[in-house]
Amino acid sequence: MDYIRIFDTTLRDGEQTPGVSLTPEEKMEIAIQLDKLGVDVIEAGFPSASKGEEKALKDLMSIGLKAEICALTRALKSDIDSAISCDVNSIHTFISTSDVQMKYALNMTPEQVLEAVRNSVEYIKDHGFICEFSPMDATRTRMEFLRRVCKVAEEAGADRINIPDTVGIMCPSSMRKLIESIKEVVDVPLSVHCHNDFGLAVANSLAGVEGGASQIHVTVNGLGERAGNAALEETVMALHMIYQKKTGVNTRLLYETSKMVSRLTGVIIQPNKAIVGENAFAHESGIHTRGVVVKPSTFEPIDPEIVGRKRKLIAGKLAGRHGIMAELREAGIKPNEYQLREIVNRVKELGDKGKTVTDADLFAIARAVIGISEEKIIDLRDLAVITGRGIIPTASVRLSVEGEEYVAAETGVGPVDAAIKAVQKITSKLADIKLREYRLEALTGGSDAVAEVIIKVEDKDGNIVSARGAREDIVMASVEAMINGINKILLKKRRLIS
Ligand code: KIV
Ligand code: ZN
Repeated sequence: MDYIRIFDTTLRDGEQTPGVSLTPEEKMEIAIQLDKLGVDVIEAGFPSASKGEEKALKDLMSIGLKAEICALTRALKSDIDSAISCDVNSIHTFISTSDVQMKYALNMTPEQVLEAVRNSVEYIKDHGFICEFSPMDATRTRMEFLRRVCKVAEEAGADRINIPDTVGIMCPSSMRKLIESIKEVVDVPLSVHCHNDFGLAVANSLAGVEGGASQIHVTVNGLGERAGNAALEETVMALHMIYQKKTGVNTRLLYETSKMVSRLTGVIIQPNKAIVGENAFAHESGIHTRGVVVKPSTFEPIDPEIVGRKRKLIAGKLAGRHGIMAELREAGIKPNEYQLREIVNRVKELGDKGKTVTDADLFAIARAVIGISEEKIIDLRDLAVITGRGIIPTASVRLSVEGEEYVAAETGVGPVDAAIKAVQKITSKLADIKLREYRLEALTGGSDAVAEVIIKVEDKDGNIVSARGAREDIVMASVEAMINGINKILLKKRRLIS
């Protein structure tokens, strides 16, 4: 029992996620990926539900995947005939067995249900198909009746019996006991199908394995009816790494599979979702980033590459120098000690304002800071702008020029123009420097994005330099870029003279 079969129902229960509906082409794309991933069974649809479902199953059968292709049917001859017409590899048939569902959903007596179980399983087997049987709502079914139903299914020839926790009400210890108790009366392999209404689907599935189940029903990203099913990626990783079980799944493809399913179903993945969420391998605090940079196992239970991911070190107010340095180095940016200190300070300042600093923000800040030389002829002390409807945009700046402070005010077509002119008014005494190019990039998209300004400036002798600024405030970023550019030209000229 070292090998646990993975029965994927993304294309059936997963498609029952509210708002999700897949075309036959989309089902095909996902099925091919699931096959590549290495699941044992792909439950690809409910053929009696629509012509589209039937077509999707027939198309899938025509491409010869390695996985077993399974169709779901009610325990009804007409449903089973639809599955037979698709020539699938296996048929999964189900019927409700809890008192509440037999009475209110089926309007059948327990004896009638037993009869339907026997007839449908026998019918499937008589047609030569692998048969998986599910007593729906098994976990709310009277134990004695559930054991009888399972025995009847086994006697009728079922190859596997699946125990669904249809409304997700089990806890791990009760799930384990339930499977142990069914195992006392049947010999066929048992499977579990757990819903996530209390967030316990994965835990309950694993407990089912502890109880003796050899197959688990899962869906990619935990999609499915209501709160969904056990997530494939979490279940498989826990089986491999915590339970030391084997599956046929190539875990390196988990992330790309999750992304594909999210794209095609339109269901976004919560950032803190295990294994495939954006934050699952991201470290922010200085203690953690320093730890993982030195030795990944300090704060990383799973090597990200095993699931097709990369470690991410997040720059934020809790970020440390080590994490930021490691992230910059990975991007080929090598600040010196002084520059690194400045980058870390700016990142923390943004973090203190409640902003998440993305990679793009961090790189923009680093590019701007690296462009600032430690030696400065002019430096910004203060900047104030006023602008608005019916007001001429005006800026006043206070600069220090080699230790002496100067103030100037200017108007312009907008606050950026006014501020740059005010800077030029002061520095014109040192050199006549014109702005030749100006480009603005808002990196993270929101109105509080870090803005990166890239400029080219030229003096009257034809010296051209480019410079950058990166701040949340566009006017500040522009003034920073302008001052960097002017400093570069002034320093260049000074070096030429000396
Ligand atoms: O949740 C459930 O009971 C089901 C059955 C069809 C197996 O999805
Ligand atoms: Zn289900």
